[in-house]
Amino acid sequence: MKVVLLGPPGAGKGTQAQRLQETHGLTHLSTGDMLRAEVASGSKIGKEAKSIMERGELVPDAVLISMIAHRITQPDAAKGFLLDGFPRTVAQAEALDRMLSERTQKLDRVIQLVVDNDAMVDRISGRYSCAKCGAGYHDTFRKPKKPDVCDACGSHEFVRRADDKPETVRTRLEAYDRQTAPLLPYYKGRGVLSEVDGMAPIDQVTTRLGKILDAA
Ligand code: AP5
Repeated sequence: MKVVLLGPPGAGKGTQAQRLQETHGLTHLSTGDMLRAEVASGSKIGKEAKSIMERGELVPDAVLISMIAHRITQPDAAKGFLLDGFPRTVAQAEALDRMLSERTQKLDRVIQLVVDNDAMVDRISGRYSCAKCGAGYHDTFRKPKKPDVCDACGSHEFVRRADDKPETVRTRLEAYDRQTAPLLPYYKGRGVLSEVDGMAPIDQVTTRLGKILDAA
């Protein structure tokens, strides 16, 4: 099964994709994670992407399209995948359609997490994660059980994403409205779009997404 999770920054795409990877055996492909790995490695792509990401803008289509074209041919993607953060422009969506049709494949479902954009600034600017194992936390919604100790691995070190400052989050939300929201009519026209309320509690969102995938 090939699925796209759509939604603005903070909608819960990464949180839900990690869960659905376990429950539905799909490989989670996050272009944000791929780009952050490129930045951390100091590669040519990473050097080009770093300042763009820190400003909250989109990295050029050509970079992302070639990254995904390569990634979906890897063995772990053969069992099906869940795209998180791609496509983000109509040009990326058209390229994805071409990549899949060349392999006589197609997208089974595109699921939009519908959220209140204003609430996303609080959601994202409170987010942090364990520097050692990556477990995710939030200043208000999800604190570690013991203050400053990771529930999963016991580490005391935590990190925040460079693009999670409130002013950058606003730029990212504007980029979503201007460049990514046009994908909603694009996929609606193809009859593959479903909507899920992303403001519901995390477990409820997972249950609703699971039902849509089970019916696909
Ligand atoms: P990327 O990493 O994809 O970031 P994003 O889309 O902005 O999404 P986030 O990771 O911030 O949010 P999310 O929806 O995954 O929410 P999460 O589950 O973490 O991209 C980063 C940058 O890379 C882009 O700005 C761009 O520069 C570049 N880029 C990436 N892909 C690109 C592309 N295709 N083209 C061009 N450039 C690209 O949840 C957020 C928080 O909310 C967490 O704390 C979580 O615990 C909490 N939460 C989640 N769900 C709920 C809920 N239901 N209730 C309460 N809290 C919740």
